[in-house]
Amino acid sequence: MKIRVLHGPNLNLLGTREPELYGSLTLAEIDRRITECAKSIGVQVEISQFNSEGELVEAIQQAGKSADAIVINPGAYTHYSIAIRDAVAAIKIPTVEVHLSNIYGREEFRQESVIAPVCAGQISGFGDQSYILGLQAAKHLLESKGND
Ligand code: DQA
Repeated sequence: MKIRVLHGPNLNLLGTREPELYGSLTLAEIDRRITECAKSIGVQVEISQFNSEGELVEAIQQAGKSADAIVINPGAYTHYSIAIRDAVAAIKIPTVEVHLSNIYGREEFRQESVIAPVCAGQISGFGDQSYILGLQAAKHLLESKGND
Protein backbone atom coordinates (compact mmCIF):
# COMPACT_ATOMS: atom_id res chain seq x y z
CA MET A 1 0.00 0.00 0.00
CA LYS A 2 1.50 3.32 -1.13
CA ILE A 3 0.50 6.64 0.39
CA ARG A 4 1.68 9.96 -1.02
CA VAL A 5 2.05 12.69 1.60
CA LEU A 6 2.00 16.27 0.31
CA HIS A 7 2.77 19.44 2.24
CA GLY A 8 1.70 22.77 0.76
CA PRO A 9 3.16 26.28 0.86
CA ASN A 10 5.14 27.66 3.79
CA LEU A 11 5.17 24.34 5.61
CA ASN A 12 8.91 24.17 4.86
CA LEU A 13 9.18 26.97 7.45
CA LEU A 14 7.74 24.89 10.30
CA GLY A 15 9.78 25.15 13.47
CA THR A 16 10.16 28.91 13.16
CA ARG A 17 6.83 29.82 11.49
CA GLU A 18 4.29 31.07 14.05
CA PRO A 19 5.15 28.32 16.57
CA GLU A 20 2.22 29.35 18.80
CA LEU A 21 -0.07 28.16 15.98
CA TYR A 22 1.91 25.41 14.30
CA GLY A 23 4.19 24.10 17.04
CA SER A 24 7.97 24.01 17.20
CA LEU A 25 8.65 20.84 15.21
CA THR A 26 10.47 21.26 11.92
CA LEU A 27 9.07 19.71 8.75
CA ALA A 28 12.01 17.27 8.76
CA GLU A 29 10.99 16.07 12.22
CA ILE A 30 7.34 15.74 11.18
CA ASP A 31 8.44 13.76 8.11
CA ARG A 32 10.55 11.52 10.35
CA ARG A 33 7.47 10.81 12.53
CA ILE A 34 5.31 10.12 9.47
CA THR A 35 7.93 7.72 8.11
CA GLU A 36 8.24 5.96 11.48
CA CYS A 37 4.46 5.58 11.73
CA ALA A 38 4.25 4.32 8.14
CA LYS A 39 6.83 1.63 8.91
CA SER A 40 4.98 0.56 12.04
CA ILE A 41 1.64 0.19 10.24
CA GLY A 42 3.18 -1.39 7.15
CA VAL A 43 2.58 1.25 4.49
CA GLN A 44 4.99 2.86 2.07
CA VAL A 45 5.14 6.65 2.06
CA GLU A 46 6.62 9.20 -0.27
CA ILE A 47 6.65 12.70 1.20
CA SER A 48 7.17 16.06 -0.55
CA GLN A 49 6.64 19.75 0.12
CA PHE A 50 5.79 22.25 -2.61
CA ASN A 51 5.26 25.98 -2.37
CA SER A 52 3.55 26.36 -5.73
CA GLU A 53 0.03 25.41 -6.71
CA GLY A 54 1.15 23.96 -10.06
CA GLU A 55 3.65 21.61 -8.45
CA LEU A 56 0.97 20.37 -6.06
CA VAL A 57 -1.44 19.79 -8.97
CA GLU A 58 1.30 17.83 -10.81
CA ALA A 59 2.05 15.74 -7.71
CA ILE A 60 -1.66 14.95 -7.18
CA GLN A 61 -2.05 13.89 -10.82
CA GLN A 62 1.09 11.70 -10.56
CA ALA A 63 -0.09 10.14 -7.30
CA GLY A 64 -3.36 9.27 -9.04
CA LYS A 65 -1.29 6.95 -11.26
CA SER A 66 1.25 5.60 -8.78
CA ALA A 67 -0.18 5.68 -5.23
CA ASP A 68 -3.19 4.19 -3.43
CA ALA A 69 -4.11 7.30 -1.41
CA ILE A 70 -3.00 10.86 -0.69
CA VAL A 71 -2.62 12.67 2.64
CA ILE A 72 -2.36 16.40 1.93
CA ASN A 73 -1.97 19.59 3.91
CA PRO A 74 -2.70 22.16 1.20
CA GLY A 75 -1.75 25.09 3.49
CA ALA A 76 -3.34 28.38 2.42
CA TYR A 77 -4.46 26.81 -0.89
CA THR A 78 -7.05 24.96 1.20
CA HIS A 79 -9.16 28.06 1.27
CA TYR A 80 -9.21 29.06 -2.41
CA SER A 81 -7.49 26.67 -4.81
CA ILE A 82 -10.07 25.34 -7.24
CA ALA A 83 -7.14 23.90 -9.24
CA ILE A 84 -6.14 21.66 -6.32
CA ARG A 85 -9.77 20.75 -5.66
CA ASP A 86 -10.22 19.79 -9.32
CA ALA A 87 -7.02 17.68 -9.28
CA VAL A 88 -8.22 15.81 -6.17
CA ALA A 89 -11.66 15.31 -7.75
CA ALA A 90 -10.11 14.08 -11.03
CA ILE A 91 -8.14 11.16 -9.61
CA LYS A 92 -9.57 7.81 -8.61
CA ILE A 93 -7.68 7.34 -5.34
CA PRO A 94 -8.93 8.75 -2.00
CA THR A 95 -7.46 11.90 -0.44
CA VAL A 96 -7.37 12.81 3.26
CA GLU A 97 -6.96 16.53 4.03
CA VAL A 98 -4.99 17.39 7.17
CA HIS A 99 -4.18 20.56 9.09
CA LEU A 100 -1.91 21.20 12.02
CA SER A 101 -4.19 23.91 13.42
CA ASN A 102 -7.95 23.76 13.88
CA ILE A 103 -8.97 25.85 10.89
CA TYR A 104 -12.54 26.14 12.26
CA GLY A 105 -11.28 27.99 15.34
CA ARG A 106 -9.32 30.56 13.34
CA GLU A 107 -10.01 33.59 11.11
CA GLU A 108 -13.20 33.42 9.09
CA PHE A 109 -11.31 33.13 5.78
CA ARG A 110 -9.68 29.92 7.06
CA GLN A 111 -12.93 28.33 8.14
CA GLU A 112 -13.79 27.13 4.67
CA SER A 113 -11.96 24.41 2.76
CA VAL A 114 -12.75 24.26 -0.94
CA ILE A 115 -10.90 20.94 -1.08
CA ALA A 116 -12.53 19.01 1.78
CA PRO A 117 -15.80 18.33 -0.11
CA VAL A 118 -13.92 16.21 -2.67
CA CYS A 119 -11.80 14.43 -0.03
CA ALA A 120 -12.63 11.24 1.84
CA GLY A 121 -12.38 13.31 5.03
CA GLN A 122 -10.49 15.98 6.92
CA ILE A 123 -8.42 16.01 10.13
CA SER A 124 -7.74 19.42 11.65
CA GLY A 125 -6.23 20.69 14.86
CA PHE A 126 -3.97 17.95 16.24
CA GLY A 127 -0.57 19.38 15.34
CA ASP A 128 1.84 16.84 13.85
CA GLN A 129 -0.57 14.09 15.00
CA SER A 130 -2.96 15.23 12.26
CA TYR A 131 -0.60 13.63 9.74
CA ILE A 132 -0.39 10.40 11.75
CA LEU A 133 -4.18 10.25 12.05
CA GLY A 134 -4.43 11.04 8.34
CA LEU A 135 -2.10 8.19 7.48
CA GLN A 136 -4.05 5.77 9.66
CA ALA A 137 -7.35 6.98 8.19
CA ALA A 138 -6.07 6.47 4.65
CA LYS A 139 -4.88 2.97 5.54
CA HIS A 140 -8.22 2.03 7.12
CA LEU A 141 -10.08 3.42 4.14
CA LEU A 142 -8.03 1.34 1.70
CA GLU A 143 -8.38 -1.79 3.81
CA SER A 144 -12.12 -1.36 4.06
CA LYS A 145 -12.16 -1.20 0.27
CA GLY A 146 -10.16 -4.46 0.17
CA ASN A 147 -6.94 -2.86 -1.08
CA ASP A 148 -3.83 -3.96 0.79
C1 DQA B 1 -2.67 25.08 7.74
C2 DQA B 1 -3.83 26.08 7.94
C3 DQA B 1 -3.86 27.08 6.79
O1 DQA B 1 -4.90 28.04 7.01
C4 DQA B 1 -2.55 27.83 6.69
O2 DQA B 1 -2.56 28.70 5.57
C5 DQA B 1 -1.37 26.91 6.65
C6 DQA B 1 -1.35 25.78 7.56
C7 DQA B 1 -2.54 24.13 8.96
O3 DQA B 1 -1.89 23.10 8.80
O4 DQA B 1 -3.03 24.42 10.04
O5 DQA B 1 -0.41 27.14 5.93
O6 DQA B 1 -2.96 24.29 6.60
